[in-house]
Amino acid sequence: MDPATNPFAPGAGSPPPELAGRDDLLDVVRISIARVRAGRAAKSILMVGLRGVGKTVLLDRMRDDAEAAGVHTLRIEAPENRSLPALLAPELRQSLLRLSRDERARDLAQRALRGLAGFAKALKVRYHDIEVGLDFDPEPGLADNGDLEHDLQALLEVAGAAAQHANTALALFVDELQYVKEDELAAFITSLHRVAQRRLPVVLIGAGLPQLRGRTGRAKSYAERLFDFPEVGPLSRGAAERAIAKPIRDEGAEITDDALAKIIDKAEGYAYFLQEWGKHSWDTAESSPIDADDVDGASASAIAALDASFFGVRFDRLTPAEKRYLRAMAELGPGPHRSGDIAQKLGRAVTSLAPLRSQIINKGMIWSPSHGDTAFTVPLFDQFMRRIMPGEDWRIPQ
Ligand SMILES: Nc1ncnc2c1ncn2[C@@H]1O[C@H](COP(=O)(O)OP(=O)(O)OP(=O)(O)O)[C@@H](O)[C@H]1O
Ligand SMILES: [Mg+2]
Repeated sequence: MDPATNPFAPGAGSPPPELAGRDDLLDVVRISIARVRAGRAAKSILMVGLRGVGKTVLLDRMRDDAEAAGVHTLRIEAPENRSLPALLAPELRQSLLRLSRDERARDLAQRALRGLAGFAKALKVRYHDIEVGLDFDPEPGLADNGDLEHDLQALLEVAGAAAQHANTALALFVDELQYVKEDELAAFITSLHRVAQRRLPVVLIGAGLPQLRGRTGRAKSYAERLFDFPEVGPLSRGAAERAIAKPIRDEGAEITDDALAKIIDKAEGYAYFLQEWGKHSWDTAESSPIDADDVDGASASAIAALDASFFGVRFDRLTPAEKRYLRAMAELGPGPHRSGDIAQKLGRAVTSLAPLRSQIINKGMIWSPSHGDTAFTVPLFDQFMRRIMPGEDWRIPQ
């Protein structure tokens, strides 16, 4: 059918034509933000899930909803090697400038901007990557100690007070939170904790890979009580059906029940895969309705597209040793696997592989669901690894 009207949207962060199966989570976050805004106790929310389940698009939708309700938001994505203060500062500045346009918040928002100036100046020594425009001179003694935990807390407190005066809240949306360094994460958690104790309307809505939960707990042991960690998983059968069928119907076309079942089967309910199979099935079908043969015919191109993008970009970031480790894991199946079994496949001792394993965890490719277990963070990655590294060469010790 006409690719020009194809509704599907595979791609990292591409908003889907139908955001299916996430109403409960959207509600949880909406309620949490409303409570914080009203000065009531509420937890910050950190959504965890594997690659491609739809965390980013969910975060974006939540942010749009919050903005529509008159909440001030900022949105950052933590890359692997930037500091948290460097990421926060420019976004916080934008929020504070917007907030300062509200008469009720003006004085405090301007004070917060002074705090931001002191914050950036004092922390620049430690975090060289801080770059932020300064609108006011620093206020001596405000957020300018040079200690992240202290200064961030002071800054969020004034920012929160400004938001409170304008009858709104400040919601911080942070994606890929697992990449924030542990000491910076600890400082962030403590600041949020203090601000929450003072019932100031500042809340964190974060998303990350499953290792985020353990990382947060290690950074601050009380974090588990401070945050909720809802899981973002594969879509339920009903939601997956809607994710595929509704966009097709909205374009005035149809899909047979068999074809629908087949797509959901192949995608195993994973959002990214649903979009990819939906897209290629649409393109393959000559005419409506899309049938099971069209889905079969589309599989090769759907898989090729995934290999080139979703899987491929991750594979390309791996060193040869990391590739071998993941290939050995793939040999054992989808997982999780015992570290001992993986080591055995490589003919190595578990301890000698421990540094390599942590390096791959830090890259976000694997995680440890329980002690001694290792699992992929990318769904169906085992099948991909066997496709991209066929044969037995990977077994040869290096
Ligand atoms: N609820 C949903 N219903 C249908 N499609 C969805 C849903 N959520 C996400 N998608 C689609 O899945 C794909 C991946 O979404 P997204 O980039 O948000 O995932 P992610 O969890 O952030 O992945 P990563 O961990 O790689 O960043 C996108 O193409 C998006 O359109
Ligand atoms: Mg994402």
